[in-house]
Amino acid sequence: MNILVLGGAGYIGSHTAKELIKAGHNTIIADSLVTGYKNAIPEQAKFYKGDLRDFDFLDNLFSSEKIDAVIHFAAFSLVGESVTDPLKYYDNNLCGTKVLLDAMVKHGIDKIVFSSTAATYGEPENIPILESDKTCPTNPYGETKLAMEKMFKWTAAAHGMRYVSLRYFNACGADESGEIGEAHNPESHLIPLILQVPNGKREYISIFGTDYDTPDGTCIRDYIHVTDLAQAHILAVEYLAKGGESDIFNLGNGVGYSVREVIETAREVTGHPIPAVEMSRRAGDPARLVASSEKARSILGWKPVHDSLSEIIASAWKWHKNHPNGYNEK
Ligand code: NAD
Ligand code: UFG
Repeated sequence: MNILVLGGAGYIGSHTAKELIKAGHNTIIADSLVTGYKNAIPEQAKFYKGDLRDFDFLDNLFSSEKIDAVIHFAAFSLVGESVTDPLKYYDNNLCGTKVLLDAMVKHGIDKIVFSSTAATYGEPENIPILESDKTCPTNPYGETKLAMEKMFKWTAAAHGMRYVSLRYFNACGADESGEIGEAHNPESHLIPLILQVPNGKREYISIFGTDYDTPDGTCIRDYIHVTDLAQAHILAVEYLAKGGESDIFNLGNGVGYSVREVIETAREVTGHPIPAVEMSRRAGDPARLVASSEKARSILGWKPVHDSLSEIIASAWKWHKNHPNGYNEK
């Protein structure tokens, strides 16, 4: 298939592009490089630099390339920033997606897979979380992703499109080659921040909250390897190509690890003592987020393979150790 990867220069997009190419799909990337990196783009992919919110850019791209399906990663995703600057998130994530849908409707492109998030649930009522559970985001980032899902639902119904929304839990790890990996600036995610300590870029890791109602008092999350996420996108596109109905799927391992357990595993993997300092809670963090991914397993046939935390951290360490400055090598 000819697949457009919007946001394919970013962390999850670049890993997905790499797996799409391996699976034999003709892969075209569009990205403004606002948070992504040209060096993350596989050389076999054709690259168009431009902004999702620019209708003429997408119109020209869809006129030049015959696109069978779109995979849409392009968004802002810093939860804290979304609270202080919500309109930045509504503008890029929601208005950008509206422009994309306008262009897809104009060109008759009827299949899209896009990045949603566990943040659509807010404080979960049940663990593990099912797709049918209540969605009540606690920040503008999650609100924009939930609004995107609804915009797809109504637009698909009106214009004969089909979509798959993938609600990722905690994306982490890196491609086995060690050539691409996670590079957010600023970084806010636990595993890359922990690995900055053995890399000599940070003296200690902060533990945000030790008084949660969990066995060791720290937050529990479901860590899912980025290559397993990439495979789920390929399965989702193939599902739509075979005529599958629009649907929403959680993507996680179904196993939760506490912040302390993640730090301890990183100590074992790196052989570094990684000092940790206990701090107060970070605003808006739910105590536990663990996915039920039974639906993705049964309908898409998805099966995460990199499901051990030490394997996930070892893959991240292989990337960070050799690229301490991410793609901005000095
Ligand atoms: P990222 O910032 O590394 O990648 C996003 C890419 O989109 C970047 O290359 C950026 O340049 C591009 N982009 C952003 N706005 C654009 C625009 N207007 N026009 C063109 N390109 C634009 O982020 P990521 O961690 O790879 O996340 C990818 C997607 O997955 C996002 O939609 C995010 O909300 C979602 N998500 C991520 C996580 C996670 O743990 N990283 C968890 C849940 C959901
Ligand atoms: N944490 C620390 N110290 C740090 C960084 C993080 O203790 O220096 C803790 C956080 O408080 C949280 C856990 O580590 O308990 C994981 O934090 P991350 O920032 O790595 O990930 P989140 O669970 O906050 O975020 C993830 C996705 C978001 C999504 C969110 C849904 O990355 O895209 O889940 O709540 F919005």
